[in-house]
Amino acid sequence: MSEQKVALITGALGGIGTEICRQFLQHGYRVIAGLTKRDAEREQKWLQTEQFDSAQVRFIASSVTDHEASTAAINEALAAEGRIDVLVNNAGITRDAAFKKMSFEQWCEVLDTNLKSMFTITQPIFVKMLEQNSGRIINITSVNGIKGQFGQTNYSAAKAGMIGFTKALALEGARNNVCVNAVAPGYTGTPMVTAMREDVVDSIKKQIPLGRLAEPREIAAAVLFLAGDNGGYITGETISLNGGLHMQ
Ligand code: CAA
Repeated sequence: MSEQKVALITGALGGIGTEICRQFLQHGYRVIAGLTKRDAEREQKWLQTEQFDSAQVRFIASSVTDHEASTAAINEALAAEGRIDVLVNNAGITRDAAFKKMSFEQWCEVLDTNLKSMFTITQPIFVKMLEQNSGRIINITSVNGIKGQFGQTNYSAAKAGMIGFTKALALEGARNNVCVNAVAPGYTGTPMVTAMREDVVDSIKKQIPLGRLAEPREIAAAVLFLAGDNGGYITGETISLNGGLHMQ
């Protein structure tokens, strides 16, 4: 069997997801890139724009909220690749609104996509990692799951839930050498953040001691570290990269 390591990244075509894919590819991993639906044109355009080697990338397409479709897609990828060494649960959405104005739909969409999906995506891969006696799972949470954020009761609840999930799963994976950690980015220069109202982004920037947004590559580097040989003694942790916005 090939020695090459395989990493599956959900939300792969997004701002942080793309940088994670880039750094894993640069470090010799094969990448299974998850996106919500099959779109050959978008996939090809992404590969070309990012100058990724298409031979090293397999796409899987399913909404992380669709349990059956995602399970089938993951099982298919596992059968084709033979193994998955690293899972990065990166797919996530925001539906910001003050709680008094939030709809049940906004609540459910965020909980379903960001938290309920942890079961769907992680379970088949975790079982394989137990069999392999090795694996790394890295969950992308958020500073706002740690400190809370006005307008994000749904998102903060889901992201905090991911941290609890990370710790519990770390306990279950440890004896089979499966390490489970979370990375908590602060406000990062991606469409999720730049889509916010300009006055809101400006007021947030003023609260960040380092005075700027994170760059996606800075987040990706922490993920790569946790996945690599030198990250093997860290489990159940959450690594924060938030420019000092929240210090624990
Ligand atoms: N703390 C206290 N009060 C606040 C507040 C805050 N942080 N933000 C707004 N308010 C108050 C306002 O002062 C205003 O009060 P008044 O009614 O007395 O004037 C009231 O709440 C309404 O504020 P808005 O005019 O902003 O209301 P809105 O309904 O137009 O928008 C909102 C509400 C959508 C939540 C908007 O405030 C917003 O977008 N906030 C930022 C949410 C945020 O940080 N999202 C992060 C997205 S990126 C991400 O999530 C990635 C990651 O992991 C970090």
